[in-house]
Amino acid sequence: MKTAIYPGTFDPITNGHLDVINKALLFIDKLIVALPETPAKKPFFSLSKRMRFIRESTKGKSVDVVSFSGLLSDFAKTKKCSLIVKGVRGSADLDYELQMAYQNARLNPKLQTLFIPPSEQYSHLSSTLVKELASFRHKESLSSMVPRCVEKALLDRLDFS
Ligand code: PNS
Repeated sequence: MKTAIYPGTFDPITNGHLDVINKALLFIDKLIVALPETPAKKPFFSLSKRMRFIRESTKGKSVDVVSFSGLLSDFAKTKKCSLIVKGVRGSADLDYELQMAYQNARLNPKLQTLFIPPSEQYSHLSSTLVKELASFRHKESLSSMVPRCVEKALLDRLDFS
């Protein structure tokens, strides 16, 4: 059984992330979506909400949603998993993700990182853009960018539904 870890902050999960999950599941049996308990930036949504959005939008798929503390390379060891999946939308993502992949491999030499580009329609989509559009009350764009549960939470949270 091939298992991979898909780590990220997912603040919030977008249709681009879901596209990467679907692509990964074409050749990976189980995906562990892993969120750091203490991410680098203060997230907009709490950890439990971000995890709930992912669970709701991947229902019925071979996806586990978990949180982890400490280094990703150590978490991978505890899961006995040697494959990391990351989405890359372009050269800026790739530059950053390569640094992370090399560092993770230095920390845990068994780790391999597999980069998956999302479909072209999601190549300019990011959680940051979603939050920006939501803050400008651009409701129309949101439905094509995020799953329904996230759209609803953004509308409720920003109180313009
Ligand atoms: O949402 P992101 O920016 O793609 O997620 C970044 C994440 C969570 C994958 C990264 O920050 C991470 O792995 N954090 C855990 C701590 C760690 O292992 N840092 C990397 C050392 S090279």
